[in-house]
Amino acid sequence: VHSGDSNTKNALSVDKVGVDEGPIHLVEAGLIDQLTGMDWKVNFDGHHQFEEITAEDDPPIGKLKNPRFVSRVCESVAKVVEGHAKKGELPVTLGGDHSLAMGTISGTLAAYPDACVIWIDAHADINTAETTDSGNIHGMPVSFLMGLNGNNNIPEFSWVKPALKSNRIVYIGLRDVDAGEKRILKENGIRAFSMHEVDKYGIGKVVESALDHVNPNRDRPIHLSFDVDALDPSVAPSTGTPVRGGLTFREGHYICEAIWETGCLVALDLMEVNPSLADAASVQQTVAVGCSLVRAALGETLL
Ligand code: ARG
Ligand code: MN
Ligand code: MN
Ligand code: MN
Repeated sequence: VHSGDSNTKNALSVDKVGVDEGPIHLVEAGLIDQLTGMDWKVNFDGHHQFEEITAEDDPPIGKLKNPRFVSRVCESVAKVVEGHAKKGELPVTLGGDHSLAMGTISGTLAAYPDACVIWIDAHADINTAETTDSGNIHGMPVSFLMGLNGNNNIPEFSWVKPALKSNRIVYIGLRDVDAGEKRILKENGIRAFSMHEVDKYGIGKVVESALDHVNPNRDRPIHLSFDVDALDPSVAPSTGTPVRGGLTFREGHYICEAIWETGCLVALDLMEVNPSLADAASVQQTVAVGCSLVRAALGETLL
């Protein structure tokens, strides 16, 4: 388990103040003890510290905001995840910004080249340097992983190998996809189950179809990247880009349980818990749901 946040430029260690940081909240809520109680042997890497780069030294590249800092954090996360994965450990990364998945998935694919990715999110996070409106790199990690930025010819991101193939990623929960992203999904034939499909078929069928697509024989390693904003804001309010009409508490947990049941899970991200954005009760609720999702993905059963 390790935690980090590439968004806030606020590099903190667990023993420092840091009370307004999502990953620290998850740990302070007792996540490590909860996993230990489930018989996991947990090696907590601590909250990663990064040397800050002042805004002055990290001007936008094109529209991309904080590009050097985000890249540096993700590259270091990639190495940590790769190292743990290669030792046969299951890296759990607590974010922090979903741009971190550029790092975590790079690490997973370095250790398991045939891995597939299940991306749970309200958003597709597949904007390119050209299509992004916001310039927020958290809306772009998948495009870098797939090499959609001219094989990542932005020098700061050239370390990201375009190792993710379009048939090895599947989305569940989408409901706020930019026009440019819709085009990218279509052009690359990327399979996505929006909330419309969740409503129509039910979460059980959707997860099964998603697995059939990326992992037909249930023999490929699975990287689960879970953005808490996939959940409805009534369930997980404390996140940066909430979108109404999301997954219920049970639908979110069902996804985690079903992926655990495959026996193929090799890496887990729980991203975008952002306690600085809400009142104490909403923060507490979101942190509790975050811990509970991690436990479900790591084998906690209801009976
Ligand atoms: N599509 C929007 C953007 O590119 C929102 C992305 C939200 N992503 C996230 N990880 N919160 O800016
Ligand atoms: Mn973010
Ligand atoms: Mn996301
Ligand atoms: Mn999202």
